[in-house]
Amino acid sequence: MYATLQTIHSYWAYFVLLVLLAAAVNALLGKAQGKIFGQKDLRISLFGLIFSHIQLLIGLVLYFVSPWFQQWSALGVSGVMKDPQTRLYLVEHPTTNILVILLITMGWSMHKRQTTDAKKFLRIGLFYSLGLLLLLSRIPWDAWL
Ligand code: HEM
Repeated sequence: MYATLQTIHSYWAYFVLLVLLAAAVNALLGKAQGKIFGQKDLRISLFGLIFSHIQLLIGLVLYFVSPWFQQWSALGVSGVMKDPQTRLYLVEHPTTNILVILLITMGWSMHKRQTTDAKKFLRIGLFYSLGLLLLLSRIPWDAWL
């Protein structure tokens, strides 16, 4: 169960990063070039939303079945916070990424309420880019690549 989830979470991360990058760049270009917000733009933004939500669900289950979770009882709260790697896996990566999903969801729902194409692109572009940057800042790169 743990190994399967870890593998899925690890590979799914590539899709999440790629789709979010594509959606953010597409929206910023759309805004800069004064394009019309069409079906393609809607779809790519929706894929970003769905892919990242799926990763959130996998991550939430993985959190409790991962051997990292046992470090809470082994080290205690202060022990976890003192060790940078344990803190990254148990605190920073999960909390930052939950915030990231929140930002992406906000960008998605705000774009729907906008009346002009430029504003739709801007909401997706800003919120997805910020989410992506935060996400990249808290990936356990050493273990992943
Ligand atoms: C939504 C965006 C997320 C992305 C792109 C992402 C990406 C990653 C990546 C690349 C790794 C390293 C995988 C490896 O070692 O091969 C990882 C590990 C991990 N992630 Fe996430 N993650 C996300 C969200 C979450 C969330 C929300 C949680 C928990 C609430 C979570 C929990 C974990 C845990 C516990 C590990 C360590 C698994 C282990 O090695 O035992 N992730 N994540």
